[in-house]
Amino acid sequence: MRRALKTIVCVIAVVLCFVIGAGATACSPETFTDNGYICDEYKDNFSVGAAVLTGNINRYDKAGLMHHFNSITAENEMKWRFVEPEEGQYSFGAGDSLVSWAKEHNTEVRGHCLVWYKSLPPWLTQKELTKESALEILRKHITDVMTHFKGELYVWDVCNEALHGNISQAQLDSGDIWRRGSEASGDNSLDWYGLCGVDFIKEAFRTADQVRKSLGDDVKLFYNDYTLNNPLKRQAVVKLVEMLRADGIAIDGIGMQAHYRLPQYEADRDAFMADFEDSVRTFTDMGLDVHITELDIQVYPYNGSTQAFDGLPLEVEIAQGEMYADIFRVCRKYSAPTAAGHGRVSNVTTWGVADDHTYASTSIHTEYPLIFSRDLQPKRAYYEIISL
Ligand code: GLA
Repeated sequence: MRRALKTIVCVIAVVLCFVIGAGATACSPETFTDNGYICDEYKDNFSVGAAVLTGNINRYDKAGLMHHFNSITAENEMKWRFVEPEEGQYSFGAGDSLVSWAKEHNTEVRGHCLVWYKSLPPWLTQKELTKESALEILRKHITDVMTHFKGELYVWDVCNEALHGNISQAQLDSGDIWRRGSEASGDNSLDWYGLCGVDFIKEAFRTADQVRKSLGDDVKLFYNDYTLNNPLKRQAVVKLVEMLRADGIAIDGIGMQAHYRLPQYEADRDAFMADFEDSVRTFTDMGLDVHITELDIQVYPYNGSTQAFDGLPLEVEIAQGEMYADIFRVCRKYSAPTAAGHGRVSNVTTWGVADDHTYASTSIHTEYPLIFSRDLQPKRAYYEIISL
């Protein structure tokens, strides 16, 4: 009750800051740390994470923001292009420094990611490959990287974005669900499916499972992808999991990236949240854990939207906060298994810490997708999720 009152007082204070035009910087940082840290609020439910770059973590930590998170994800530093820039020559320094930071700060680390069609080194994308040589290289990469990070990570996104971006009913019915061709081309990209068919997914999970067993590492193995709230894409993930299981290949969970846009939710909040919850329920009912791996909520409808405001208008920030709260509410609801053998939501991670660093800003508009503002202050999203 006291806490609810404090939250109300604080929200009023922030609103007043905006109303009198002083901006969020006028609100003291103590005001929000008094309300508590997000990871403490959810400690009985799931870990709360953020993706960070090695170069940003100390700055966010100094501002007090890293206390809100008990999990981190390397925004780039564990991707293939960064860890194996030359064939067989590894560069683990940046990833290692995140792992050391996490150890010193009692924080867990999500591993992201072992195989993806993007962010690959030129030696790999430019190589003449056959199916067999590609699978051989994949197995070696996974073995070497998992061995290096043995015991340091609690989960690996083994495979990222192996499905089409959008899936139609016809594609789902015919089984044409795999990303390939022009959807998997471009700089630093490789059409794994075109080369290997679904065997690259099976081999990735099979190898990761063998490696963890041989290392005695209990790291969990996840499939990670975007728009998994979409019913058709959800069904495609179900097919992927069934395919692995039919071959006796282990998979522990699904990463729902959750790069969302506020206008999608505003168009019909109930429908948006029902789809999101249906996906969480479908996956957990299958005995899989769910991580929300890359949560952010863009306020513009499209990458190409022209800049409509300078600074985030309060009414937009409020709506964004409500959407964050709805997502956290569903995650909390499924944070314990609903039946024996079912999975649960065990992590929620935002893709970034504060609006000053986000991949979502374009040359056309500035985005505001995160829980903390460009000047590292709490936004309405913070007050909403801390007081659920
Ligand atoms: C995908 C990837 C992330 C990151 C984001 C944003 O979702 O999984 O690693 O690159 O895109 O760019």
